[in-house]
Amino acid sequence: MDLNLTEKIVLITGASKGIGKAIATEFARENAIVYLMSRTELKLKETREEIVKETGNTQVDYKVGDLKKGNDINQVVEEIKQIHGKIDVLINNAGGPPPGGFLDVDEEDWYHAFEQNLLSVVRMTKAVIPLMIDSGSGRIINVTSSSIKASIDNLILSNVMRPGVHGLTKSLAREFAKDNILINTIGPGKIKTDRTLELSKATAEKTGNTVEEVIENMSKDIPIGRLGLPAEFAKTAVFLASGANTYVTGQALLIDGASVSAL
Ligand SMILES: NC(=O)c1ccc[n+]([C@@H]2O[C@H](COP(=O)([O-])OP(=O)(O)OC[C@H]3O[C@@H](n4cnc5c(N)ncnc54)[C@H](OP(=O)(O)O)[C@@H]3O)[C@@H](O)[C@H]2O)c1
Repeated sequence: MDLNLTEKIVLITGASKGIGKAIATEFARENAIVYLMSRTELKLKETREEIVKETGNTQVDYKVGDLKKGNDINQVVEEIKQIHGKIDVLINNAGGPPPGGFLDVDEEDWYHAFEQNLLSVVRMTKAVIPLMIDSGSGRIINVTSSSIKASIDNLILSNVMRPGVHGLTKSLAREFAKDNILINTIGPGKIKTDRTLELSKATAEKTGNTVEEVIENMSKDIPIGRLGLPAEFAKTAVFLASGANTYVTGQALLIDGASVSAL
């Protein structure tokens, strides 16, 4: 299958590690022109070097910016526009909100989660969509969580913000289908990233288990029997964001090894 991604301009946010980095690596493998965005320059530089080494694609660059700041978002999009005049693919991804139940989070936490996990998607999409309309096509993927389908205990901020992102996806998919802009939401179940390992370490310290035991216990709740790999998530994202996808839009897809039983 030809993914038709050669020389396509791809912007991936939250791309210095984990799922974002894996998605960037797969786009680089497909000869796209890849822009990584996140807040920490040193980490972005290292990630860029790793992706170039792994894929042989030197057309990987990065932009430093905070997705909680509208000005950073507009500046990154403007800089890419100045160089290429367009953005073909946008992957909206960022760090997730902290855990906690309703009584554990305060108003500041709500604003933080709103800005980082919902408003950032609105702002970034608003900045990029006019370019996609001008060029007559576009693909957008919003990375969320399995909380778009089933709420997760002790994760109230995700349970509220993530479904909002999918609501946005559905509306935009319908509004911009006529412009050949296809927009989908993908929700990770449990993917083996640094963040998952950090959370497992915290659980291990609390329970007295080893990290391996924590991960083994976690895997027991996943019908496929193990955590997902970032590259497994990335391959699906790349297909949906490619020229090979011409009809799937407005959908919410979980990559969770069948963990969530909701339809
Ligand atoms: N891994 C899983 O199993 C899983 C499960 C459910 C949901 N998710 C969600 O999927 C997303 C990706 O997960 P992950 O495990 O890859 O996360 P991660 O390892 O924490 O990576 C997050 C990335 O986002 C960047 N970032 C964070 N805040 C940012 C901001 N304000 N502006 C710009 N960049 C920012 C980080 O770099 P800097 O800190 O340097 O900016 C990093 O590159 C998260 O939203 C997570 O909650 C993941």
